[in-house]
Amino acid sequence: MSKEVWKAGNMLYPLPVVMVSCESEEEKPNIITVAWAGTVCTNPPMVSISVRPERHSYAMIEKSKEFVINLTTKDLVKATDYCGVRSGRDVDKFKEMGLTLQESSKIKVRGIKESPVNIECKVREIIKLGSHDMFLADVMAIQIDSSLLNEKGKLELSKSKPIVYSHGEYYDLGNLLGTFGYSVKKDKGKKPAAKQRSKRQK
Ligand SMILES: Cc1cc2nc3c(=O)[nH]c(=O)nc-3n(C[C@H](O)[C@H](O)[C@H](O)COP(=O)(O)O)c2cc1C
Repeated sequence: MSKEVWKAGNMLYPLPVVMVSCESEEEKPNIITVAWAGTVCTNPPMVSISVRPERHSYAMIEKSKEFVINLTTKDLVKATDYCGVRSGRDVDKFKEMGLTLQESSKIKVRGIKESPVNIECKVREIIKLGSHDMFLADVMAIQIDSSLLNEKGKLELSKSKPIVYSHGEYYDLGNLLGTFGYSVKKDKGKKPAAKQRSKRQK
């Protein structure tokens, strides 16, 4: 395999691409598409989103100190792209994309009903980085579409047809290749024992 050396840049792909909903007293509810989002801590559950200060959403999140990360799906791919190329300064993205506001359980800012998973977040810190500022946030609650739960109550997220963003392109997920820890499991067909399951905590 021969390689080229490129100058420093962003090349961590594929990534989740999420629709972040935000609200402030003065503005209409808005949605910003964000790919620079990540899980940063298991306990306490924490996430980050990085947003350019010039975005309309930036000031809204800065003021309310809250946002909702709404997971995206094949059905939401057009809305995901649209919310990333139009500004809430000019259009009502909820209206234009036929999306519905959904009350949150632990925060004031509302989520997107059509998204299968809504992660309610409270900003802990805003870290200035350069082009983007990072909103470091605590996860306060999660709402999950109950049709994604199997008879044992386990979340089957793949049923929602999640999408990923890879170097300017959106994809759905391909085939299931394995499950967490399968490479070291003796009986590959067997369910993980309770002890093994606890090891899944990252
Ligand atoms: C796939 C995709 C990913 C994006 N990721 C980010 C991001 O991580 N941070 C950011 O500030 N803008 C990101 N953008 C751009 C904003 O979503 C875009 O500028 C949007 O129009 C801002 O909306 P607003 O002005 O209503 O806040 C992304 C756009 C797309 C299409």
